[in-house]
Amino acid sequence: MSSIRQYLSGIFGEAFEKAGLDKSFGAVVESQRPDLSQFQCNGAMAAAKVAKCNPRQTAEKVAETARELAPQLSIELAGPGFMNISVSDEFIAANANSSLSSTTLRLEMPTPQKIVIDFGGPNVAKPMHVGHLRSSIIGDSLQRLLRRLGHSVVTDNHIGDWGTQMGMLICKMREEQPSLPYFDEKYSGEYPKDAPCSIADLERMYPQASAHCKTDEVAMAEAVKATDELQKGRAGYIALWKHFVALSVETLKKDFDALGVRFDHWYGESHYTSAMRELTESLRRNGCAVESEGALVMHVAREDDKAPMPPVLLVKSGGGFLYATSDIATIDFRMKEFAPDRIIYVVDKRQSQHFEQVFRAVRIASIVKSETGLEHTGFGTVNGPDGKPFKTRAGGVMRLSDLITMVTDKARSRMTEAEIGSNLSDAEKEDIAVKVGMATLKFADLSNHRLSDYVFDLEKFSCFEGKTGPYLLYTAVRIKSIMRKAADAGFAEGPITGIGEPERKLLLILASLTDAINAAAENLAPNFLCDYAYSLAQEFNRFYNDCHIMREENVERRSSWLSIAKLSLLTMESALDILGISMPDRM
Ligand code: ARG
Repeated sequence: MSSIRQYLSGIFGEAFEKAGLDKSFGAVVESQRPDLSQFQCNGAMAAAKVAKCNPRQTAEKVAETARELAPQLSIELAGPGFMNISVSDEFIAANANSSLSSTTLRLEMPTPQKIVIDFGGPNVAKPMHVGHLRSSIIGDSLQRLLRRLGHSVVTDNHIGDWGTQMGMLICKMREEQPSLPYFDEKYSGEYPKDAPCSIADLERMYPQASAHCKTDEVAMAEAVKATDELQKGRAGYIALWKHFVALSVETLKKDFDALGVRFDHWYGESHYTSAMRELTESLRRNGCAVESEGALVMHVAREDDKAPMPPVLLVKSGGGFLYATSDIATIDFRMKEFAPDRIIYVVDKRQSQHFEQVFRAVRIASIVKSETGLEHTGFGTVNGPDGKPFKTRAGGVMRLSDLITMVTDKARSRMTEAEIGSNLSDAEKEDIAVKVGMATLKFADLSNHRLSDYVFDLEKFSCFEGKTGPYLLYTAVRIKSIMRKAADAGFAEGPITGIGEPERKLLLILASLTDAINAAAENLAPNFLCDYAYSLAQEFNRFYNDCHIMREENVERRSSWLSIAKLSLLTMESALDILGISMPDRM
């Protein structure tokens, strides 16, 4: 539905302009005092400061012009120059009716941009942990949001498939099965097609190898050497590494499918192997990078830095490339391949220094033009009930698949408790449990501002009441069921008319979806949409308590209420779709 707030901002902007002041002073916001008015415009104070005139008089003048431009508005002045604004019920109804007559909910589209979003980013052979889960859930919501606004979005899952963990695994494999041809440098035949291990083996081997390397310097040195040799293209290692990657990617794809998250590309770090070689050579030649203790580094510190900014390590003394090297090569590739206006990285906020270094490096090297935005969209940690990073009961890394099983099991038991879906077939009940579980997980993650850490409290997040995913699904399905019952009874929807107290607040919320979408996009923060969906659900339930649609005998009123219900459903579907939450048809 069109945003009433945006419409009012237009009117007040014009009124300020007519008074010779900047139209930005006309920004209208939702009222802080809903008892006094629905909206307010506070620009007169700031405008008067700039123009050195009296704020109250400025407000009077602006209000007068606004009344001329839109006579239906009620505008009251308060204090030094606040303008309290309300719109008439007829206006609210007309706005709602016009959006019902268009097939989809209209949105004001910004100028379309080309945007690359880098999210997900799990590492090969290491299980995907809750940090990657946050990146995946937030990143997916951002891709849906920005696409919905008409931007051209490219998503890339920058998997870690080229780091030291690969060398560790190669060494571990050599220790366990030394006779495999991959380790024989003189071997010149074909390497076996089948992997010498399973994904379960990899998941066992990696923690063992990593723990060993942590305590044993010799083992670590060997792993680093094997990684260097792999990156230089040693044939046996490459063949073995390909098996590791294929096994991991197969499992990761299943995980992402279960989450309902898709990417346009899966270029991993290894995609940039030859690019890293060429790029580091050219940075050396053009003087952007310099030799330091046998390594190649790039100085990125600035004089006005408040905190020390270490140089970027591009090539280790042994010849190996690093995380930053691949990120720099990746940006070079993305600029050439996609020519984006912005690149957004949805990565743990603890990597902020890494991204600051990389962003400075690519600007120094003129890989990125100044007008291209490079944004590290960080996020906080998911903690367990003990306030420490979320782990399994045994203290291990919580795997995504375990987490999904956990939320689905909980959804099932909550449904039994609340007798939800008791009259449905087992298959349908199971489908609902999966959707409720996913809504639990995603809403819990998205409803917190991405930068804050939060405690994953399954008891709270899985409730069908309160600010939770299940509550939103329950409300949406409730509306679907009302619509079905009405259709069965032969009740038709009609124009929204005669609105008053019971309908007004819900219709005002329905008219502010665009505002929530814009706030989420401006801040790259889906929690604005979560807050929105929650107020919508609460307000719909309040409306439905007061307005007994099915029992209403006045046909005009009943059909108006049905239209409001339909609009509520469309709006809720829109919001949930951007959050990546899918809803069942019944419960
Ligand atoms: N693999 C990395 C990790 O697990 C995340 C990758 C994020 N993307 C990037 N371009 N650096 O921490």
